[in-house]
Amino acid sequence: MPVFQQTFWKIWYQYLSKRIGSDPVTFLNYGYWPPEGETITLKPEDESNRPAIQLYHHVASGADLTEKDVLEVSCGHGGGASFIKRYHHPKTYSAIDQNPKAIESNRKTHGILGIDFRTGDAQALDFPEKHFDAVINVEASHCYPRQDAFFKSVYRVLRLGGHLLYADFRTSAEVAQLDRDIKEAGFQIKSKTDITPDVVRALQKTSERYRSLAHKLAPKILHNVMETFAAVEGTKIYNSFVNGERIYWSYQLVKAT
Ligand SMILES: C[S@@+](CC[C@H](N)C(=O)[O-])C[C@H]1O[C@@H](n2cnc3c(N)ncnc32)[C@H](O)[C@@H]1O
Repeated sequence: MPVFQQTFWKIWYQYLSKRIGSDPVTFLNYGYWPPEGETITLKPEDESNRPAIQLYHHVASGADLTEKDVLEVSCGHGGGASFIKRYHHPKTYSAIDQNPKAIESNRKTHGILGIDFRTGDAQALDFPEKHFDAVINVEASHCYPRQDAFFKSVYRVLRLGGHLLYADFRTSAEVAQLDRDIKEAGFQIKSKTDITPDVVRALQKTSERYRSLAHKLAPKILHNVMETFAAVEGTKIYNSFVNGERIYWSYQLVKAT
């Protein structure tokens, strides 16, 4: 089952990268839009990705990343890596994903920023021990069959006092296991916030864009699957956020010992 799960997500994200091709889809997340509105002043060229960027900004603001060594696990199409490198000014930024197509295209699209993009597995990070001050992980860990291995692997590569800044969704039945995995890896929970209403607000703003993108990129037979995957309004995943079946969590975790 774990092998099947990992293979499924590998094939799915490679399929998406191939379909998206040269389209400027550099984020693959549901976004974030708090009640008070926009959270950051953006350059005009970043405005079209505001909801997805605000999710990254919310996560990255959990610690001061200025002049720090930062690793992003599951960077997808690299939009978040580009945003954090340009707006949060880390000293170094490494970013891994298991999708080789995404990594190859990230090197071309965002290469100028000096980001070290590599293919890798979140559950077995191929970096030396105590190598980073912070690790970023956005909307990806639900894909990992061995989430306990992911948290342990991040703990190993963090320096003492380092942060794992993390956001992802879980069904209400899965949250207890998530907290167990976090604690068993050794992390101290600095904060844990339910950001579902902020994510739903973002989905309401992006639904039209993602519906037309789904129709443009996929054959008709896959329109419903694509819309559900993108959680556009009215789909099963969108509704599960609204009715409380799925919760979108944001965590700030510290390697304190
Ligand atoms: C929903 S996308 C999020 C991408 C990015 N964080 C963003 O917000 O735009 C999930 C990502 O997790 C990656 N992923 C899934 N399983 C992985 C694994 N075991 N190791 C590394 N990356 C993985 C996928 O390839 C995909 O890029």
